[in-house]
Formats: sequence, C-alpha cells, structure tokens
Amino acid sequence: MELLSCMLKNQTLDSFTMTIRSESLFLPIFLLLIGSLSFHSGCYYDNEIDLYGDLGCDTVGVTYSGVVEPILRNVCYSCHDEQNNFGGITLEGYDKVLPFVQDGSLLGSIKREDGYAPMPQNQGPLPECDIQKIEVWILDGAQDN
Ligand code: HEC
Repeated sequence: MELLSCMLKNQTLDSFTMTIRSESLFLPIFLLLIGSLSFHSGCYYDNEIDLYGDLGCDTVGVTYSGVVEPILRNVCYSCHDEQNNFGGITLEGYDKVLPFVQDGSLLGSIKREDGYAPMPQNQGPLPECDIQKIEVWILDGAQDN
C-alpha cells in the first residue's frame, strides 16, 4: 500500500524515467533524485511504520499508559472493567491485560482473526491506527510503560 502510494506519487517521474532509460548514465542519478524527493515528500518511513505501510499512523513511542490504556478505557472498559467483566474478562490495569496479550487473544480479537471473538463486541472494529498502535506496543514487549 505504502509503496503503491509512493509509486503513484512518483508516477510522472517514473514515466519520465522511462524516456531516459536508454541513457544509462542518467538512470542511476535519476533514481537517486527520486529517492531524495520521496524522502522530502514523506515517503520515507522508519521500521515500525514500514511494518504497516501507513504513514498516517504515528506508532512511534507508543506506551501502555499514554496510548493503550486510554484506548481500552474508551472502548473496552464498558464490558471489561472490574465491574463489567463480561466473559469473565477484565482489562482494567496492566496486570489484567497482560495474560490476554500473552495468549494472543487481545490482538486476535481486535484484528478479528479466526478463532477469536471479534472485539469490541457488536461494534465496528477499532480504527486501524489504534490496532496498529496496540500491535506495536505488543511487538515492543508489551511493557508497563
Ligand atoms: C459490548 C460488550 C463488549 C465490549 C465493548 C468489548 N467486549 Fe470483549 N468480550 C465481550 C464478551 C461478552 C466476551 C466473552 C464472550 C465471547 O467470547 O464472545 C468478550 C471476550 C473478549 C476476549 C476474549 C476473546 C477470545 O476469543 O478469547 C477478549 C480478548 C476481549 N473480549 C477483548 C476486548 C477488547 C480489547 C475490547 C475493546 C477493544 C473489547 N473486548 C470490547 C464483550 C465486550
């Protein structure tokens, strides 16, 4: 997706490249030029965003307290806090969330993967960026940060 959108952005450059492809000296220089243009036009991405190919989602510096907990609080606590522990599941507090991170069901349910109950129940999925942030937090070791 990301590569595609970058390619589309550079479409006019690409067709220009085609016309000078025969002049072998120009091509490497031109590719360099496209590379630097891509950098300035926001097509550069770091490793975490590279995983998802979504420039619109800032997944850098995701923490439990700053990002993950507020998402769970807003969307999931209505059914999974200490009082409303539907399905016997409480997601209120890091220690309560961790087991569902470790058994894969937190991610499986919000990504609506086969074998997991789709969450939040009876609602549309979380915004894609929220899912990505939670996944990045998990990939970074699901720290209590
Ligand atoms: C409207 C109520 C409701 C909301 C909102 C809700 N859940 Fe659930 N959740 C349930 C119920 C009920 C179950 C147990 C029954 C089931 O598995 O379908 C459950 C089960 C789960 C499970 C276990 C799934 C499995 O397949 O093992 C996880 C993990 C979970 N919820 C996470 C979440 C997360 C994360 C959110 C917020 C993004 C959320 N839930 C929002 C009602 C809800």
